[in-house]
Amino acid sequence: MTTDLKNFIAQMPKIELHLHIEGTFEPELMFEIAQRNNVKIPYKTVEEVKNAYNFNNLQEFLDIYYAGAGVLLTEQDFYDLTWSYLQKIHAENVIHTEIFFDPQTHTDRGVPFDVVIKGIHSALEDGKQQLGISYKLIMSFLRHLSEDSAFKTLEQALPYSDWIDGVGLDSSEVGNPPSKFQKVFEIARQAGFKAVAHAGEEGPAAYVWEALDLLKVDRLDHGNRSLEDSGLVDRLVADKIALTVCPLSNYKLKVVTDMQHHPLKVMLQKRLLATVNSDDPAYFSGYMNDNFWAVTQALDLSKEDLYQLSINAVNASFVKGDEKVAMRHKVDAYFGK
Ligand code: ADE
Ligand code: ZN
Repeated sequence: MTTDLKNFIAQMPKIELHLHIEGTFEPELMFEIAQRNNVKIPYKTVEEVKNAYNFNNLQEFLDIYYAGAGVLLTEQDFYDLTWSYLQKIHAENVIHTEIFFDPQTHTDRGVPFDVVIKGIHSALEDGKQQLGISYKLIMSFLRHLSEDSAFKTLEQALPYSDWIDGVGLDSSEVGNPPSKFQKVFEIARQAGFKAVAHAGEEGPAAYVWEALDLLKVDRLDHGNRSLEDSGLVDRLVADKIALTVCPLSNYKLKVVTDMQHHPLKVMLQKRLLATVNSDDPAYFSGYMNDNFWAVTQALDLSKEDLYQLSINAVNASFVKGDEKVAMRHKVDAYFGK
């Protein structure tokens, strides 16, 4: 039965809505790119890199994640990073992905915006043509930097607005509330971008309220701490704001003490539109299948729960019209609905 369910998850058509492309940087590829770019990294072996992936909180992870991204220099590097992720998820039956990229992580090191986006975009297009994986691209502002820097990034993105579907907000949450970015989100939404934001991962429920009321997000990344405020839960349910939940990330960053205490099942019981996602799979030891399997085992999820999570992801995706209907049919057909 256990292997049956694990197999069922592996074969299930999956939709990913919370994925940082820089967080898919596997140590093997990091070594290869570091070597060809002649960039030094503070590790001698892949083993050593993996041993460094022990985090007590979000910031400890971010320090290592930004350092790793520092070896990415050329369009080919960004292509290879993205292509390698697409091949991984293709093997896991992910049919649609909505990925984040963090332009400031690269532009602040002198890598031009167009180098970053061209590499990512061409791999995504190849993934669509060759692997049949549809996609959306979300540009995230780093919240530890100023709103001014976010405005500069938005300006650099405007010539590529056909390639970018939304803006997001990530990086160090506590001390950097959504209110800091109210103006830039307003302008981005006026320019036609969808809006999402990380909130309630480590930060309080008040940050989730701000993401809703000030940034006017279309969906919320993480949102775990929303459960501390029943009025907020009611609001998220009433407004049908989906949560992109990341189980293994939550465990590795000590947002939850163990998987048995993960709030995903409670979220479903409260009718929150929760979805399952991998966040930074190279750092948190697991892509979509592992994330689904970890919560299924720990929380004793049923196939009906898996169906609900999948339908939530279809509905919360930024895909529209016939494409969305087709995606829903694929999920329904798999579950025999
Ligand atoms: N950047 C990459 N992963 C992140 C996470 N889980 N939270 C905030 N910022 C991030
Ligand atoms: Zn994230």
